[in-house]
Amino acid sequence: MSDSFHPSEDLSSGPIVCAISESVMRQAVSGMLDPEFGPRVIEAETIGRALELLVSVHSVDAIILDHPAGTEACLKLMRGLKSRVPVYLILNEPMTSTEALEGLEIAGRFEGTDALEDLVARLSADMKKKKAPAPAPRPKPRVPAAPPTPAAQELVKKLEAAANTITPTKPNDDFIRSAHEATMEIIRRTGLNETSQQLIRSNVMLIVKSMGTSPKLKNILRSIFIDRTKYRSSHSVVLAQLTCAIAGAVKWGSSTTFQKLTLASFLHDLEVEIDDLADVQTRAELEARANTLKLEEMKRYLLHPARASEMAQRMDEIPPDVDTIIVQHHERPDGTGFPRGLSASQFHPLSVVFVIGHDLLTAVHRSEGPISMSEFIASREQIYSMGNFRKVLRELDTIPAMDGSA
Ligand SMILES: [Fe+2]
Ligand SMILES: [Fe+2]
Repeated sequence: MSDSFHPSEDLSSGPIVCAISESVMRQAVSGMLDPEFGPRVIEAETIGRALELLVSVHSVDAIILDHPAGTEACLKLMRGLKSRVPVYLILNEPMTSTEALEGLEIAGRFEGTDALEDLVARLSADMKKKKAPAPAPRPKPRVPAAPPTPAAQELVKKLEAAANTITPTKPNDDFIRSAHEATMEIIRRTGLNETSQQLIRSNVMLIVKSMGTSPKLKNILRSIFIDRTKYRSSHSVVLAQLTCAIAGAVKWGSSTTFQKLTLASFLHDLEVEIDDLADVQTRAELEARANTLKLEEMKRYLLHPARASEMAQRMDEIPPDVDTIIVQHHERPDGTGFPRGLSASQFHPLSVVFVIGHDLLTAVHRSEGPISMSEFIASREQIYSMGNFRKVLRELDTIPAMDGSA
């Protein structure tokens, strides 16, 4: 496993939108693309959802369409939104007219018995070609080089020493949690200078190294049940372990993905100033506490995902997608989340992992005893019923029961 960030690896590319209207075909294409492209594949059940997605994300690498009535008009709309996105057409039957597609630069048309296999092979080849030249890094505002404090320097040395000894069999969770607390305190006092960034990177490296390549969700959940103070003392560290284990369970567990989820976990609640608010998940839950909060405190809480995301964008060597995961961590697929009230198709796939992991951790925290995974899944089936949400929730269903039930 790599110890440093490599922004050009796997998920640095944009999503591949599978907007095939016929559900069996859509799921078949999505399933065939999954082993190679994993979380980059987003299913859009309708053209409307595909259009929503094009509006909400910065870049899309490919759109896959079939050919129901009106496809030409949809294509024109899509071209209007993202003029250069390659469109791949998969056809159940030969098209009667190709005239309307002229000038729309279809990247590939696939029909006949081998259409699915041909599409996957072509997409794979095209994505490899696309990946060859590394994208130019985004220009960022300079992070001020404030002089390091003695406490920060001392912590950097301790983290470097710990990195030499920590392994999945010797994880030293107590040290990781206290290092996280100390790092957060240093960032709150001194801001995002070069030393605090080095501290964040060292912490992330330590957490990822301590998890190994295949963290087990059941073991992580069990350790939270055994010592529930772990959640309270370091929500972010446990969340990193939980989200990485979920990503591994849905076969999205590359080292880059682990680094992204761990970094997002580390930073997502940095701007939350009131500890008691850390488990407030939705706008409705926040409003239910209106009697005990000042208006200014509520406003700041509603903005904490965006503020933490902006801070992530200012970091040097930040892997792509981390800022998106952070800004989406209180969104909900039914549109009840904040700050933007996104719908399901607008979520980055790793945000889906993060939102479900955060929800599960909050449920563990709120439950009186060991959580029943089957009850958790049953209670979330409706809200997590679409696309990647459904896929991740189904994977949780394969985890052995934690509560002794079948
Ligand atoms: Fe939060
Ligand atoms: Fe949180």
